[in-house]
Amino acid sequence: MRPQHLVVLPLLALAACSTTETKPPTANLTKEPFGKSKTGELVERYTLRNSKGMEVAILTYGGIVQAIRLPNGPGKTIDVVLGFDTLDGYLGEHPYFGALIGRYGNRIGNAKFTLNGKEYKLAANNNGHSLHGGLKGFDKVVWAPKEIPGEEPALELTYTSKDGEEGYPGDLTTTVRYTLTNANELKLEYNATTDKDTVLNLTNHTYFNLAGAGEGDILGHSIQILADRFTPVDKGLIPTGELKPVAGTPFDFTEPKPIGSRIMQDDPQMVNGKGYDHNYVLNSGGGALALAARVTGPNGVRTMEVLTTQPGVQFYSGNFLDGSNKGKGGHVYNQRYGFCLETQHFPDSPNKPDFPSVVLKPGEKYQSTTVYRFLQ
Ligand code: BGC
Repeated sequence: MRPQHLVVLPLLALAACSTTETKPPTANLTKEPFGKSKTGELVERYTLRNSKGMEVAILTYGGIVQAIRLPNGPGKTIDVVLGFDTLDGYLGEHPYFGALIGRYGNRIGNAKFTLNGKEYKLAANNNGHSLHGGLKGFDKVVWAPKEIPGEEPALELTYTSKDGEEGYPGDLTTTVRYTLTNANELKLEYNATTDKDTVLNLTNHTYFNLAGAGEGDILGHSIQILADRFTPVDKGLIPTGELKPVAGTPFDFTEPKPIGSRIMQDDPQMVNGKGYDHNYVLNSGGGALALAARVTGPNGVRTMEVLTTQPGVQFYSGNFLDGSNKGKGGHVYNQRYGFCLETQHFPDSPNKPDFPSVVLKPGEKYQSTTVYRFLQ
């Protein structure tokens, strides 16, 4: 037996040497522990990788997009989303970096709405209004992961919100599938069902900086939004109900324009938002997947396109970032260091009968898709 072993071992060693020359492919879907939530639940970080060298990291806590690393020259990547290196940052105070937002993205006026003749009261967590799902929204819960292996890796996250949670009616089960395609697209597919009539508006709150997270403000980015109208707001950022043409206002991005070119204009809407913090009424009208916005970094460096089936998108220019969050790699995020494009139904829709409906009924399927596509 012994001599045979002696023969086999060198052969194995030779085989090992030859395989190191042709590098084994890196797994395109991996996971690692990322700490514990405040209630002691395990949080994991999943990393999706595509054939072009792009990587996306997603946390089971809050469905947070923790990193989007794009190829940036030989052997290099650049991370274009704001956030933290560790779970502690996400467990502390922060303005929804990367998070999945629910049950209701953006604001519901006076933190209440009436459905089927019954009034529902919500947490007034934003100047008397309800913002982004309340005190413990979908951004602060741990989601159950399911790996979807394949040529284009995907992760599915599921969470059941109980009847009455944060004041909303119905047991609501939500599944969000994150797919990284080989065309450098991060695709988010949202699905939900309920056992009672309820209202729902799911979105994602990733802050982007196409020059790299922490690398200055986004005022030099150029943006185009395919919307002829927007929903003006009052001082509390609640839509007035009007769909106002953007033409002739600093809100007109029907042609690409730098974010900073008109942000300081003395326009009452700009004053209310402290910059751009407005819902755009997409020309597509929602329904089919269509281009909503296109953003290019300073000096033409990389472009991101956002496609969605939603009728609206909140363009938020990071006005309330104030340097109080120390982010990835020790970067401080000052005012306007990132922008968000939150695809959505219009804010305060439960109280605005003329806006597209956000009511979900038992037996119906809530479905929406948003794609973030990166072009070099
Ligand atoms: C809102 C902003 C808010 C930000 C962070 C955005 O969706 O429109 O007003 O400051 O989220 O909470």
